[in-house]
Amino acid sequence: MEFSIDRGAEHALAGAVSTDSLTLKPIGFIRTGKQVKFQALHQPAEGEAENNVLELLPGSNFEQALQDVAGFDRVWLLWWFHRNETWRPLVLPPRGPSKRRGVFATRSPHRPNPLGMTPVRLLGVKGRTLLLGPCDLVEGTPVFDVKPYVPAYDSFPEAKAGWIEEVDALTEAPARFAVEFSELAQAQVAWLREAWQVDFTARLVELLSRDPTPHRTRRIRKRASGALEIGCGAWRAEFSVDAATARVTVKALETGYPLRFLTREGYEAVPDREAQMAFLERWPEVAG
Ligand SMILES: C[S@@+](CC[C@H](N)C(=O)[O-])C[C@H]1O[C@@H](n2cnc3c(N)ncnc32)[C@H](O)[C@@H]1O
Repeated sequence: MEFSIDRGAEHALAGAVSTDSLTLKPIGFIRTGKQVKFQALHQPAEGEAENNVLELLPGSNFEQALQDVAGFDRVWLLWWFHRNETWRPLVLPPRGPSKRRGVFATRSPHRPNPLGMTPVRLLGVKGRTLLLGPCDLVEGTPVFDVKPYVPAYDSFPEAKAGWIEEVDALTEAPARFAVEFSELAQAQVAWLREAWQVDFTARLVELLSRDPTPHRTRRIRKRASGALEIGCGAWRAEFSVDAATARVTVKALETGYPLRFLTREGYEAVPDREAQMAFLERWPEVAG
């Protein structure tokens, strides 16, 4: 598999670049077990215990290229957002107010050259294989390069972070809405937690308590019926907002996928698939 980077001919320095494109070849494909994009967080979940494996391809002396890497706590992975086909000059980041930003001011996957970079914890090196901690790459992502993370070169904690700092300040502000669950939603939360160890309420409350208004990347939308819905991982919830009392009521939980998809061949890897099917058996009336 090869990936080409187009380069505007007008920018190619005469003699320095012979074509208007550059070709990269992956050195390996990562195994993270994250089958769908929403399972990979926007940046690695540093607090989680994750074991991801990057086995470099055979036949290129990559065992040797990994010599001396074991002494580093972290390595940079440079990789390709291979599941994206398009890019946009303006993108809507998942956090903060519903405002589009220039893609080069974001870490969005929708870039003209869809290159990702992630500083991951290095848990071990054996032969051609790197054992890695939390990361934000989906299963099978092509990796182009591994470089040591060097705090003295790569870390500037005092550097300004533009609009991201403003959004972070907003997120740290106290929640504006009280979030409560209807009787039905409470029963569904308890059942999912007990029967399936599935619990996405913390994320639901965090998002809804700060800003329950429709937002594409936060997956909040108004349905044709006028009801509000939020997507959270493989699940959804219907909710209402009382602006006068600053209250959000989660009316019911729902599965993210309808039964006709869950039972279809090719959908075996949908997260929480069994739990979603059992949920729909128990609460068929809320099937999406
Ligand atoms: C916001 S990007 C940040 C990536 C990287 N840390 C960076 O800053 O360049 C992370 C998101 O990329 C998406 N993603 C991960 N692997 C991908 C792939 N191979 N193709 C397309 N999207 C991917 C996941 O949805 C994840 O939440």
